[in-house]
Amino acid sequence: MRILVTGKNGQLGRSIYKIVNTANGDNLPPNEFIFVGREELDLSSESSISHYFDSNDRFDVIINCAAYTAVDKAEEEQELANQVNHLAVKKLANIANEQKAKLVHVSTDYVFDGTGGKPYKETDKINPINVYGKTKLAGEKTLQEIMPTDAIIIRTSWVYSEYGNNFVNTMLRLGKERDELNVVSDQIGSPTYATDLANVILKIIVDRGYQAKDRATEVYHYSNKGKISWYDFAKEIFKIAEVGCKVSPIMTEQYPAPAKRPRNTSMSKNKIAETFSVNIDDWRVGITRHLSVF
Ligand SMILES: NC(=O)c1ccc[n+]([C@@H]2O[C@H](COP(=O)([O-])OP(=O)(O)OC[C@H]3O[C@@H](n4cnc5c(N)ncnc54)[C@H](OP(=O)(O)O)[C@@H]3O)[C@@H](O)[C@H]2O)c1
Repeated sequence: MRILVTGKNGQLGRSIYKIVNTANGDNLPPNEFIFVGREELDLSSESSISHYFDSNDRFDVIINCAAYTAVDKAEEEQELANQVNHLAVKKLANIANEQKAKLVHVSTDYVFDGTGGKPYKETDKINPINVYGKTKLAGEKTLQEIMPTDAIIIRTSWVYSEYGNNFVNTMLRLGKERDELNVVSDQIGSPTYATDLANVILKIIVDRGYQAKDRATEVYHYSNKGKISWYDFAKEIFKIAEVGCKVSPIMTEQYPAPAKRPRNTSMSKNKIAETFSVNIDDWRVGITRHLSVF
């Protein structure tokens, strides 16, 4: 298969690259992976998207890891966020249809308002409370309309990796610079090690059931198992990495940010686990594995 991966410089794109280009990749069937970033395929420009696909051979699978992910900045840059998270997804879906390609699209727990109280199922009410969440939801909806079959949407949450700016890397940096840190304790969710999500996506694209032509497009949830607050997560990161920084809990109101954050977005992962026989490791396993690669 010819497999296109967008967002090659992002956490998930780089994690997929790492897997297919290291020893683990030898266990995968021999597919051709093409990784692109905004230099080759700028999702904020319809003409860039058309140009890229017009000048390349067709793909069997498109894995869309690119997104406008700056949650706070999106409140100001609504148009750009909408272009990348919604309109570009519409364009990719139309191209995937024309090319008879499968499309794997990644979405977010921020499509929920966080007031549910129970782990969200794929069928639960969606109600994003910030611009990022709204644009990601618009991307999901347009994809489902254009591709009622042959696509898959994976909602994930609290993604971290060895690459780029993420909560774990920020905590490790600040923890070494400071003696004490205040971290929000009333936002609950499930961390996701990007390598774990990357492995799940690579498993799904070779799954016989997924490869079946005209398979209905569905939404699935994936993160590591368990739910915690950012405060608990920071404490565990410092414990594993043996950083002696004191962590104190604060409320969201004490850490004002431009975008509202949902309070509890933990998601049920039963559907993806059962459909694709995916093992879902606990968040502690994910963070331990991640910190062991440093
Ligand atoms: N990070 C999280 O906590 C989180 C949580 C829930 C869901 N998700 C979803 O998971 C997926 C992967 O996230 P991630 O953490 O890997 O994100 P990331 O590290 O921010 O990577 C996103 C990538 O998208 C690229 N991009 C942005 N605008 C673009 C444009 N106009 N044209 C082409 N590429 C563009 C960025 O390119 P540059 O590197 O050039 O800027 C970046 O490499 C996304 O769909 C995201 O919405 C993430």
